[in-house]
Amino acid sequence: MRSDIERWEKKYSTKSELSVQQDADPLLVSHKHLLNGTGLAIDLAAGTCGTSIHLARSGYSVIALDCSLTALKIGQHLAIKSGVFVQGLVIDLDDYLLPKSTFNLITCFRYLNRRLFPMIKWALNPGGRVVYKTFNQNHLEKTPGFAKEYLLRPGELAEAFEGLQITAYDDGVDSQQPYSYIIAQAPK
Ligand SMILES: C[S@@+](CC[C@H](N)C(=O)[O-])C[C@H]1O[C@@H](n2cnc3c(N)ncnc32)[C@H](O)[C@@H]1O
Repeated sequence: MRSDIERWEKKYSTKSELSVQQDADPLLVSHKHLLNGTGLAIDLAAGTCGTSIHLARSGYSVIALDCSLTALKIGQHLAIKSGVFVQGLVIDLDDYLLPKSTFNLITCFRYLNRRLFPMIKWALNPGGRVVYKTFNQNHLEKTPGFAKEYLLRPGELAEAFEGLQITAYDDGVDSQQPYSYIIAQAPK
């Protein structure tokens, strides 16, 4: 197994259903009016499926992708307990192709992989939305050892999703804000 994937597996092997954070990200909660729960959603680097379960509860059919089988297993149990179904798939996002024009919603939280940006645009249905939120360079204030290549630069999300209509955006202009995010919609 590749060493980074092995590290994630090891991390999740110390977790249980009771110890993982399952609240929906506040960004999804505050923008729930945009997320109509219709059609197929895919959650990239889903971890223990907190976002996936929230989306399934909102009515989406949800696929959760992650490299960690252990994380997805925890997520599947939590989904069952919540009374929803989430299709978990163990895949390496460094080596995976999303199908064209397939998803009404694509989410990615706390994971930066720049090769996904053009693929997300390609994989959205007309009118489909992307929600991407992860750490930006302000994160270094509190976590100086964090690998810089996994931090968003100012303006990067807007550039990455050029051609989509931006509905909500924060570039981390407030230096106390360690996350940047975008919600954007593909042309109809
Ligand atoms: C910080 S966690 C975020 C999990 C979840 N999105 C959340 O916000 O709670 C990053 C996730 O990325 C996954 N990951 C890291 N590298 C990956 C890869 N190459 N392919 C698929 N998943 C990967 C890890 O297993 C981990 O679950």
